[in-house]
Amino acid sequence: MAIKKKIGFDIIIYDSFEELEESDRRLLERSVAARNNAYAPYSNFQVGAALELENGEIVTGNNQENASYPSGLCAERVAVFYAGAKFPNMAIKSLAISVISKNNEVLEPAAPCGNCRQSLFEYEYRQKSPIRILMMGAKGKVVECSSVADILPLGFDNTYL
Ligand code: THU
Repeated sequence: MAIKKKIGFDIIIYDSFEELEESDRRLLERSVAARNNAYAPYSNFQVGAALELENGEIVTGNNQENASYPSGLCAERVAVFYAGAKFPNMAIKSLAISVISKNNEVLEPAAPCGNCRQSLFEYEYRQKSPIRILMMGAKGKVVECSSVADILPLGFDNTYL
């Protein structure tokens, strides 16, 4: 018999950056610094990502656009691929993402795109521990999610292969 099942998850919404713990504020600040170095001349939408690893290292990335649009890469994947390349066996504890646009004021936190969710999911699955995600717009409100799996329901992993 068919059953109907709801899949849901909790998020934490902070009214402001100041409500975060110091280590999370520091991580978000690193994502803000990274977004300022984004190469986004086509969209004017700058994204910074900062990963905190288990050994305390912080790895950052930002979006890198290209005149051939699909050849560019999102900030989250730049950061996670760099972490995978440089610290292959180090678990990722948290990911902070912040965005800013030169075209309009973005006050809502932006969640990773679908492609980035899938890429991040691979690392979470590999390390067998959740990656916490903090997201912020240009300033202000911060949204926290407990894992990549939460924001990628019914995710695809290598058990299918
Ligand atoms: N972008 C990211 O870096 N991360 C996301 O999760 C969403 C989109 C970038 C890609 C592109 O350079 C610009 O934002 C506009 O889509």
